[in-house]
Amino acid sequence: MIRIIEVGPRDGLQNEKVPVPTSAKLDFIQGLLASGLKEIEVSSFVSPKWVPQLGDVEELWPALPVGGIYSALVPNKKGLERAVALGVGRIALFTASSDAFTQKNINMTVAESLEVFRDILAEYGGWVRGYVSTAFECPYAGRIAPSQTVLVAQTLIDMGVAEVSIGDTIGVASPAEVRVLTQMLLSEIPAEKICYHFHDTRGTAIANVSEALEMGIRAFDSSAAGLGGCPYAPGAGGNLATEDLVYFLEREGVSTGVDPVLLAQASVPILKLLQKPVTAKAQLATLAQKPS
Ligand code: HMG
Ligand code: MG
Repeated sequence: MIRIIEVGPRDGLQNEKVPVPTSAKLDFIQGLLASGLKEIEVSSFVSPKWVPQLGDVEELWPALPVGGIYSALVPNKKGLERAVALGVGRIALFTASSDAFTQKNINMTVAESLEVFRDILAEYGGWVRGYVSTAFECPYAGRIAPSQTVLVAQTLIDMGVAEVSIGDTIGVASPAEVRVLTQMLLSEIPAEKICYHFHDTRGTAIANVSEALEMGIRAFDSSAAGLGGCPYAPGAGGNLATEDLVYFLEREGVSTGVDPVLLAQASVPILKLLQKPVTAKAQLATLAQKPS
């Protein structure tokens, strides 16, 4: 079984300056759900001063369409309180392999963030994923040793997260690097607890998915239309486009349960709103096909 975790409504929108109304986000999520995607990361319980685009999570969450498996980012205790108040059952904690990045992103060192997460995991009864950002390279500190990423991922797993999502935040990795890191991760963590989160800044994301898939990884994050970027990671390009991921997997004989036409259409209104053209390759190809 393959899992696609759609992060478009969160990662896809968090860095966009044009304010997206809550109703447009809900339509986007409804479209993603209709295409067959189930696991959707819809927003963040972060400071609205830091990430204004996601400041409407308290309005968004109660209005989510039924049928999805929804989650949201939580950076600290205050974020957890907000999530619990809404009855959120799945959260994603986020740290990184690099202190320089976590300082800019959440104003904590990696060690400080892990201490905060330990308390959150002790208190929270729901499902938790842990992100490890800058897994290959940090925009501030440069290349990251794979052992550093494995250490942070292993610590999160030991604390009790259900899975780790390994983030190539600025989209630099190549398949050979993915092979080395995956081998090291698999020697400590079972494959079913490892997910990859590739940004496609340099066009290597699908090659990286292919490598990880061959090594037994079965969960990938992606974002409709390839939207995405992190406000605190200069140079972070868009995420791996869900359209490209679905096309690649299906063509490789891995069934996704996602309708490519409905998926290609789901982000069109949001792109219009953001005044952005369609750039994801498989989405362009699908939209160009005449209906038969
Ligand atoms: P801080 O300023 O250090 O927080 O921010 P603080 O504890 O000093 O508090 C300052 C003020 O913020 C206080 O309010 C707090 O109540 C409030 P005041 O007294 O001034 O009125 N505050 C909050 N408000 C709402 N929700 C909260 C919260 N916490 C404190 N949770 C903080 C620390 C973590 C909040 C801030 O740094 C932040 O919001 N950062 C968000 C960063 C972010 O969202 N980055 C993008 C997501 S990560 C990513 O994209 C990577 C990923 O995709 C994987 C990959 O690609 O690698 C996941
Ligand atoms: Mg990301």
